[in-house]
Amino acid sequence: MVWTPVPVADGYSGAPVVDDLAEVPEPVPPVVVVGPPSGATVREVLRHGLALVQGWLAEERFAGSRLVLTTRHAVATGPCERPDPLTAPLWGLVKAAAAEHPGRFGLADLDDDTALPHAVARIQAGPDAGVAARAGEVLAPRLVPTAAEPIPAGPWHLDITEPGTLENLRLAVDPTPVGPLAAGQVRVAVRAAGLNFRDVMVALGAVPGEAGLGGEGAGVVLETAPDVTGLRPGDRVFGLLPGSFGPVSVTDRRLLAPIPVGWSFAEAATAPIVFLTAYYGLVDLARIRPGETVLVHAAAGGVGMAAVQLAQLLGAEVYATASPAKHAAVRALGVPAERIASSRDLRFEDHIRAPPAGAASTSCSTASRTSSPTPRCGWSVPVAASSRWARPTSATRPSTLGCATGPSTSSRPDRSGPGSCSTSCSRPSPPGRCARCRTRLSTCAGPATRSASSARPGTSERSC
Ligand SMILES: NC(=O)c1ccc[n+]([C@@H]2O[C@H](COP(=O)([O-])OP(=O)(O)OC[C@H]3O[C@@H](n4cnc5c(N)ncnc54)[C@H](OP(=O)(O)O)[C@@H]3O)[C@@H](O)[C@H]2O)c1
Repeated sequence: MVWTPVPVADGYSGAPVVDDLAEVPEPVPPVVVVGPPSGATVREVLRHGLALVQGWLAEERFAGSRLVLTTRHAVATGPCERPDPLTAPLWGLVKAAAAEHPGRFGLADLDDDTALPHAVARIQAGPDAGVAARAGEVLAPRLVPTAAEPIPAGPWHLDITEPGTLENLRLAVDPTPVGPLAAGQVRVAVRAAGLNFRDVMVALGAVPGEAGLGGEGAGVVLETAPDVTGLRPGDRVFGLLPGSFGPVSVTDRRLLAPIPVGWSFAEAATAPIVFLTAYYGLVDLARIRPGETVLVHAAAGGVGMAAVQLAQLLGAEVYATASPAKHAAVRALGVPAERIASSRDLRFEDHIRAPPAGAASTSCSTASRTSSPTPRCGWSVPVAASSRWARPTSATRPSTLGCATGPSTSSRPDRSGPGSCSTSCSRPSPPGRCARCRTRLSTCAGPATRSASSARPGTSERSC
């Protein structure tokens, strides 16, 4: 976006400049100008601006007129300018109001008072709700094509020269992907990269100490280290690929998996991190079991959608919150409408506690964004800032799907070690897990037993 000189219309007949709406003359002219904000703090400036905007919309007599707020250097029109932090937020406030109420508001950022008539004339005549005046010219923001970035001759990946603004994205030369492979490494020709929440946060400098863009993707194996097994050149793989915003990435064999049949590279590239995050929360931390009830907050987000699908796959009953406008997306994942509440207020708890019509009982399962563990119902796992999962206590756990529940001495999950399982669940556990308490076999010190009747291929037969 570039501030570009725009023509100024003739015929401007002047507009009153006021500090307060009470000073607006009658009859109300087509344009009323408010002088530069005088607050000493951002809060004061915004509070005054908000009062002006709300007052202008509230009074019927202003309905056919436009209110233009003036500022001094609140926007940077070129690389040598820095926006004034005191008044810059006012532009955000008024631009939002102007977008919601076309023709009712305008913004003029001036370098001196003599520019006011030209700036106001432009706002009055054209589609620009916000203009700046600099050195006698009126400027308006315009989208322009960027200069094409030359692709480096050698190996490269997308990088950011200085985090803080996406305008600093560059293609950086990076020899790492073409160097010799270390033990356990695989070289992958990247066909699609996943753009993750983290990449945006890192690029904006919002994650202190984190650098490097691109962490997941999908592609074709080019080469494997001699000790790597199970993959060979030509295989389609997806997983965690460092520097994946480039043609080649080198990663650890353990961070890759074959792309499932029928998935495109693009589909595969977006799956790894959100699903691994959800897996870590639901399986490693919550140790979710079939029949348990899970509340997924922000279920229409990336991690949230992965958590919903994974919880369903694990046999859990899923409740969800999302913005009301996104409820259809959560329903499309298979969550019934009555189990979906708004993510934008705290009433979700009442909504989810209310038993569905005809239900004999309800299992308590909510977890708030702030409570962990949830004292009355179960516990929450703060895997992500806005994605938490809850599990009921054994006392409220439904006795379905072959899991008979026993009394629990704690509202926390069964993280207990040897000999203290509070459940007697006969279903098979995943490989490496105790068949009874689902603790990792390496940490479950109970006596190893074999139960041929419950064994199935690929599952553990051991239990404590
Ligand atoms: N992406 C990953 O791979 C990954 C990995 C580890 C951790 N995380 C963390 O997981 C969280 C979600 O990441 P994501 O990638 O899933 O992000 P996302 O796709 O942007 O989803 C975030 C969700 O948060 C909700 N939200 C935003 N503002 C809110 C507000 N004021 N009140 C309530 N809900 C609000 C939105 O849902 P509604 O509009 O429906 O409320 C949005 O869908 C982040 O904290 C992230 O750092 C992400």
